[in-house]
Amino acid sequence: MGQEPPKAPVDSPAATHRVLVIHGPNLNLLGARETHVYGSTTLSEIDTELRARGARLGVSVETFQSNVEGEIVTRIQEARGRFDGILINPAAYTHTSIAICDALLAVGLPAVEVHLSNLHRREPFRQKTVTAAACVGQVCGFGAASYYVALEGIVLHLRGKEAHAKPEKDTP
Ligand code: DQA
Repeated sequence: MGQEPPKAPVDSPAATHRVLVIHGPNLNLLGARETHVYGSTTLSEIDTELRARGARLGVSVETFQSNVEGEIVTRIQEARGRFDGILINPAAYTHTSIAICDALLAVGLPAVEVHLSNLHRREPFRQKTVTAAACVGQVCGFGAASYYVALEGIVLHLRGKEAHAKPEKDTP
């Protein structure tokens, strides 16, 4: 008997979604910056891991970092039609940026807010987020792994939306 052709993995996704990851100010310094709070993983290590995990999940991952609020707003605006979902760590802008919140609301793409640290165990000014209200969810407190959990979350969310959009099989 001949060898059977390799089978696609059971969870092999049929559709590929495109996920944009946005890192806010000072996250370019990860690995060197307050390592007792943010850990020793660098941003480029996080980005590499996100792309690898994205490939395993069947989604493409593009990453972007900026220290400038307006550049982040522009990237969010440009995501319309090019991406299906956004992961965003607005960093310090989390606590202040109505402009980023508005940009997320304006494009209407599902977004997940990500933080390395657990904001709720930190200073009172960090416990307030003005951007989370524009997101479908938030992951914080797991260090670099917050991003990986958030990636799983956005993919599940996007696939769930697709499943809901499909017509019921047995409906007459
Ligand atoms: C952060 C938390 C913010 O309060 C802070 O300004 C950051 C990083 C985090 O990932 O834990 O820069 O967003």
